[in-house]
Amino acid sequence: MDLIHREGLARVAKFSTPHGIISTPTIMPVINPNIRTISIEDMKKMGMEAIITNSYIIRRNDDLRNHALEKGLHDLMGFDGPIMTDSGTFQSYVYGDIEYGNIEIVDFQEKIGSDISTILDIFSVPEDSHDKAEKAVDETYRRMTELSGERQTILAGPIQGSIYNDLREKSAKLMSGTKAGYLPIGGVVPLLEQYRYGKLCEIIINSKLNASFDKPIHLFGGGHPMFMGMAVLLGVDIFDSASYVKYARDGRLLFQEGTRDLKELMEFPMWSPIYGKYTSKELRESPVEERTKVLAHHNLFTIFMELKEIRERIYEQTLWQYVEEKSRAHPALYAAFKNILKYKGKIEPFFELYRKPPLYYFDESSECNPYFERLKKFISGNPRFEGQGNHVPEGAWQPSRLSGKFIKEQYEKSSSPYFIRWMGIDVPVELEEAYPIEQIIDTAHYMEYPSHEVPEISPSKKEKIRDFDLEKIRTLCDFQFGRGTGREVFPDGSEITKSRATGRIRTVSMNGKFLATMRAHDGFLGLNIEGGKRLLNARKYPSNRVVVNEDSAEYNAKGYNVFRKFVIDFDPDIIPLNDVLVVDSEDTLLAVGRAMLSGIEMATYSGGMVVSVNHHTKER
Ligand code: GUN
Repeated sequence: MDLIHREGLARVAKFSTPHGIISTPTIMPVINPNIRTISIEDMKKMGMEAIITNSYIIRRNDDLRNHALEKGLHDLMGFDGPIMTDSGTFQSYVYGDIEYGNIEIVDFQEKIGSDISTILDIFSVPEDSHDKAEKAVDETYRRMTELSGERQTILAGPIQGSIYNDLREKSAKLMSGTKAGYLPIGGVVPLLEQYRYGKLCEIIINSKLNASFDKPIHLFGGGHPMFMGMAVLLGVDIFDSASYVKYARDGRLLFQEGTRDLKELMEFPMWSPIYGKYTSKELRESPVEERTKVLAHHNLFTIFMELKEIRERIYEQTLWQYVEEKSRAHPALYAAFKNILKYKGKIEPFFELYRKPPLYYFDESSECNPYFERLKKFISGNPRFEGQGNHVPEGAWQPSRLSGKFIKEQYEKSSSPYFIRWMGIDVPVELEEAYPIEQIIDTAHYMEYPSHEVPEISPSKKEKIRDFDLEKIRTLCDFQFGRGTGREVFPDGSEITKSRATGRIRTVSMNGKFLATMRAHDGFLGLNIEGGKRLLNARKYPSNRVVVNEDSAEYNAKGYNVFRKFVIDFDPDIIPLNDVLVVDSEDTLLAVGRAMLSGIEMATYSGGMVVSVNHHTKER
């Protein structure tokens, strides 16, 4: 997977297949080779880049089989882009045993030129016992490993395991270690049909967190737009679905937040491709075939529209918030969102150091946002913030700066911690400018319209005992690079410059050498080489480091970015978009730059850029 943009586990990425690149997240419309409800051309206009069809159906039908064997699958389907084929597993789940074996089925898919071929996995249903589901996981794994030789097709190895978290974990780990280049999450159709989204979220999380990040995660059958955002947030890249046709046959229309019945629908929405072509009454009275085609068109359009929104949200870094909002559309979704929150600790490490858009605070469920979670982790057990904490007096903190008077008369004359209070969370005042803290917008703000008047803070006779700007830099450093690093990297005597226009900190230096800058766009620190050297001394190996091999070291020292294939070790706790130290195998500093992946992801991505270098030690 070629990562383009990210928000936590959600990613905009590119996946290469023999017939072209698939941009994710996306959906592969299911096309039955016998029935064409929507033309390929019309699908392309909606944004379709890949389709899925069933090799079992093709194989059982003489005409289809002969066509596919003679002229290829792409000719048969009338599509020259990426085509995935399924194996007949679902048919064997619905109708009982099928007549072909695993190897035969995969060989057939390869022979007809399928881009992504699925093994004959064992479909476990939610009611299966743990024992039965485990046997299915083991047998599915065996079937993947029995496939020999190099293949001209990408193999899809489904992750099974029914509703059991430990089995999903096992299956994901096993499959990731095989030559499967594509990982669908299987056995979930019954859960989707029953709106058991909470369980589904658990399945996705347990599969995703134990699967290779290098391979696309596909959700078999998960094509209802009301759930897609949630699935993408948890790391699903590709969906497939026949829902657009199935719902159309039942006279139902998909909307981004649910489903409506044509019988009850008064008007078509203006965004729909049906709008202006039919009235709902006309469509109700149309022959069933025509009606199905028209509704399928609307349904598939809705799915692609939702995917567009999801991709936009990832670029904007507001997918979490979108999912939080959408979860109020149905109790099943809200229950699922609550279930996701149980995993907030596991999801948090994948979130970027900062996000630019404001963070909206609605109620206590907003506190489970990964950014709040990270803050809580930072504060809890940290001696700096223990003991008698003070809250900044009402009004002394305006979005988003503390009043100078408060700093001079209270903060700098005290040694105790001060917090800005937001609903349930105390945020250390020193982090006031870091995103998204700087940007939190809570409901109380709108309910009470605070005056923002700076309260009377009477001059204190005490002496100044600390410097707010230096404490700010040190606290940011502790937050970004680990507890206690602030004092080491920015010792007493560090010189701080500020912008004349905004009064904000710009640079920190020592004896005329820059240590770091405080970035205007996110309020965090960007290290310079001198700051990097000090951090290197302050932290034990491999903390904050990405270690490169000898082939790469010279280039990185000259300022070239770091690519995964040259990385030999790294800190597993790296936060995406945080600065890291690029070192060689002797732990000599080569460069500092921004990590593109979390440490957890670095373990399984095999390619791509992992550090965008900002400062380097040698001349080019
Ligand atoms: N289609 C829907 N669910 C599944 C599944 O679990 N495995 C396969 N191969 N296809 C499916």
